[in-house]
Amino acid sequence: MTRIEIVRGELPADGNLVVFVDRNGRPSDAFRALDERSSGLLARAFASLGKPSHGRVLELPLPAGLSYERLFLAVLGRDGPLRPLDLEEAGAKIADRLQAARVADAAVASPQGLDLGLDLADVVRALATGVRLRSWRFLKYRKPDEEEEGRPLECVRFLAAGGADLAAEVTACTDAVNFARELVSEPANVLSPEAFARRCEELREFGIEVEIFDRAALERLGMGALLAVGQGSARPPFMVVMRWKGAESGAPLALIGKGVCFDSGGISIKPAQGMEQMKWDMAGAAAVVGAMRALAVRNARADVVGAIGLVENMPSGSAQRPGDVVRTYAGKTVEVINTDAEGRLVLADVIAYVCERFAPKAVVDLATLTGAIIVALGHEKAGLFANDDGLAADLMAAGEDVGEPLWRMPLGKEYEKQIRSEIADLKNVGRGREGGAIAGAVFVQQFVGERPWAHLDIAGVAWAERDRLLVRKGATGFGVRLLDRLVARRFEEG
Ligand code: BES
Ligand code: MN
Ligand code: ZN
Repeated sequence: MTRIEIVRGELPADGNLVVFVDRNGRPSDAFRALDERSSGLLARAFASLGKPSHGRVLELPLPAGLSYERLFLAVLGRDGPLRPLDLEEAGAKIADRLQAARVADAAVASPQGLDLGLDLADVVRALATGVRLRSWRFLKYRKPDEEEEGRPLECVRFLAAGGADLAAEVTACTDAVNFARELVSEPANVLSPEAFARRCEELREFGIEVEIFDRAALERLGMGALLAVGQGSARPPFMVVMRWKGAESGAPLALIGKGVCFDSGGISIKPAQGMEQMKWDMAGAAAVVGAMRALAVRNARADVVGAIGLVENMPSGSAQRPGDVVRTYAGKTVEVINTDAEGRLVLADVIAYVCERFAPKAVVDLATLTGAIIVALGHEKAGLFANDDGLAADLMAAGEDVGEPLWRMPLGKEYEKQIRSEIADLKNVGRGREGGAIAGAVFVQQFVGERPWAHLDIAGVAWAERDRLLVRKGATGFGVRLLDRLVARRFEEG
């Protein structure tokens, strides 16, 4: 993974260098210094390019007198003030350009001298964050093709104040996102429920309490819904409960994640086409784990419980059948009409357990819950369902801050008819495919009671089918930064 260094220092005289200009050609101090050494050639070369937009990265021909290997100009600025997210995106474009140029390490000059309307440390933090988020790739099982994919970026050195502390902060925060991405990328043969639970134990080194519940423990608790989903698999289910106690509080915030390590659909089996994607049906759980890590590494002053249900949904002689009635932890019974609507069964038990044990002041769950949310929103935004407008507003704002946008979807008593059963308290699917994402949300809602709650259906955003600005094709880590920002906005003291 790309190493970030932040050191105050002179412009290097050789190697690969990135310098900043604003889009009107106003130079940073570093650009001006280089331009003077090249008798104005750099500024003229830049002027010939018209008015490139924010985030463009151009390689300049080297004027005599400058002995760099490669010299890149990165353009910053647009009408109106820049947000940190804009600078993260600029950092991502720099990383991308360097990788495409097969540059393994580069120095990035200070943007000092540009009027960006932000503290220099915030600018460098955002640029470095963008570099690190964009350059991550999952290369555990293959070597990249340098011709096609560029060269892995080994080290980017920012010549700016902030130093080792800022570099460590950026590294720790982006590692939390990349940790979630790694979990989501792992194939299901490697990341079983048990293996996932073991990976959670790594969080202890950051000061997070981690409790692991095995099948026997889940049976003792009476988690009939979660256990029913897992009963067809040769690999037993687990629940992991984590706590970051960065503040004393009467009641924690609870983050709950769907961790279906593989979703074949069970007896209501899915078609073969695309079934391999269901290895990432644990992206909600990965987001929760990543968020817990992010909170801990920045020492967030908040009390947060993270809980994930880990199961594999498989068809077998021991699998649950359509028509089975299961008893949830909360005591409500559920008729399982479709064994492929398994995520809500897992969430139901984990949410009910966490609500009873911790009496949280709010609950946010994340799940790749429905294909229907992809029909509704595509891959641009995640679905947000909430019974509390304040919580919903803070989630929306947090999503805008970090580039993980949400779109609010409805809830309401009128939708509950869909999930009434003739034999049990509830059934796990509505009628037909209409409003499928809402039916899923309304089902989950039955287990949170009246406390402030939000449900994020991230089925459309957990995996990118094409490169995006802050992430390449593949696991996005969606939710990690969003939850971290939500905590900063709403649940942090002082
Ligand atoms: N994990 C799937 C939802 C999903 C689909 C996630 C596509 C990512 C991409 C979920 O468990 C599921 O199978 N949902 C069913 C629900 C239906 C049976 C009511 C669906 O969406 O088809
Ligand atoms: Mn399913
Ligand atoms: Zn699923």
